[in-house]
Amino acid sequence: MTKILAIDDKQDNLIVISALLKNLLSQCIVITAQTGALGIKKAEEEQPDVILLDVRMPEMNGYDVCRHLKSSKGTRHIPVIMLTAVEKTSSSRVKGLESGADAFMTKPIDETELIAQVKVALRIKAAEDQLRREKAMLESMVEERTKELSKSENRFRTLVENSLTGISIIQDKRVVYQNPEQENLFGPLPRTPKFIDIKGIYPDDVQKVEDFHNRLISRKGRNVETDFRFYPQKGSDTGPKMKWVLCRANSIEFQGKEAVLINTMDITRTKELEHMLRIQDKMTSLGRVATGIAHEIRNPLSGINIYLNTLEKLFQRGGDPEKIRGILEHIQSASRKIETVIKRVMDFSRPSAPQFVLKNINKSIEDAISLSSVTLRKRRIKIQKVLDDNMPECYIDPQLMEQVILNLITNAAESMKDTEGENNIEITSTFEKDHIIVHISDSGPGVPEEIRDKIFDPFYTTKTGSTGIGLSLCHRVVADHGGVLELTTSQWAGARFIIRMPVRKDHQGDA
Ligand SMILES: Nc1ncnc2c1ncn2[C@@H]1O[C@H](COP(=O)(O)OP(=O)(O)OP(=O)(O)O)[C@@H](O)[C@H]1O
Ligand SMILES: [Mg+2]
Repeated sequence: MTKILAIDDKQDNLIVISALLKNLLSQCIVITAQTGALGIKKAEEEQPDVILLDVRMPEMNGYDVCRHLKSSKGTRHIPVIMLTAVEKTSSSRVKGLESGADAFMTKPIDETELIAQVKVALRIKAAEDQLRREKAMLESMVEERTKELSKSENRFRTLVENSLTGISIIQDKRVVYQNPEQENLFGPLPRTPKFIDIKGIYPDDVQKVEDFHNRLISRKGRNVETDFRFYPQKGSDTGPKMKWVLCRANSIEFQGKEAVLINTMDITRTKELEHMLRIQDKMTSLGRVATGIAHEIRNPLSGINIYLNTLEKLFQRGGDPEKIRGILEHIQSASRKIETVIKRVMDFSRPSAPQFVLKNINKSIEDAISLSSVTLRKRRIKIQKVLDDNMPECYIDPQLMEQVILNLITNAAESMKDTEGENNIEITSTFEKDHIIVHISDSGPGVPEEIRDKIFDPFYTTKTGSTGIGLSLCHRVVADHGGVLELTTSQWAGARFIIRMPVRKDHQGDA
């Protein structure tokens, strides 16, 4: 239903306009007002779709009413058509339009023109209403988003401010933000953005921190990380306590500009626990070593004691020299056994330093295979080798590496002592990037899960008559070459030992 407000001081005019509009426009309500002030009031209350406004009125004329309507928030959107019988000059039209009127018509009113003007005004109003609604919707959306944003910013701020990780942002060589934990660790702002200028860095870690800083500024890695020790300057009553921190730096965009985000974590407790565990681990290994040595020596030693007793009795009875010689041989053999054990222990604790020479590791593998070939043939074990033709020469101790491979082949062969059917050992060597990888796989029973963490310990053995030193020696030699020795499962569900070593380009040991 279209609502039209007609404002005119003459009742007759209002009756004529009402009749005209009702006649010509279907579905239309006409509201009337006989003074400007009343017109303004009705416009505000009724919110008509169009206002027809007479210019000549006592008290408040049409121009003033129009200005008022157009300056008031509640009515400025309603189109106003001004009607006049007297002021027909173009200057009065201009004045009308300047006061904010949307159209200007002269009396006597031409019906067709009036309807046309009203329809145009209605169309404009409908379009403007639509625009206003969309604007209002947009405004409320923006308001909601702004609220959400500020909520999420607050949440984020709370998280960062209460984080147990120190967080700081460096921009244009300045620390532009740091959270309370960071302040707790490194002190309040302003602070130097240079890590190397942090006071109290543990002397052994200065180089590490310097490298970290250099990598950070040269941006070699987008993501740089280091850990280091330092003495916080905010000393406690008991003096400064050394702290371990882990620092990670990432490039980020902060307030539209490039910046570096530093995360710092206090890992003192973790390092302390790690240290304690290492000591505990060492003590456990030491215990196993001591038990191993004791076990190895006790058997021949009790043999010696028994033979000495027998010898004593023989002497008292003026015994047979042949028998005595036999017993002495037993004693000598038992004592040699003890000597061997002691020698192996000495070899293990003071191994000869590796003699690095430029060699192809495939040669050590070939030599170890040919040394063990007779034994393997006797035991009906098939040995297969798949060696990388592109293996480069690098600095290794070929004798020690041959010993490692030989030990691993011997272990593999011994594991298959009681297995029926076909027995296999496979040795492969590959060269990947700058690493040498050697696999020694067997078709034996494999290493049971529960002893996997013990087999590299010195003197750990599951065999009778063995010292259990083979794998610990292998482990040490591979470590001396900068590599690692690992155990996995082979393609036959047996054991697979993997040697992974960096290719050393000089005999000092640098990869
Ligand atoms: N290929 C393998 N398959 C199954 N078990 C293995 C294998 N290699 C090693 N082991 C297990 O690991 C233990 C330790 O091996 P290690 O070579 O250190 O000692 P050992 O062979 O028992 O004695 P030693 O090498 O001093 O003669 C072995 O006793 C065995 O239980
Ligand atoms: Mg062995």
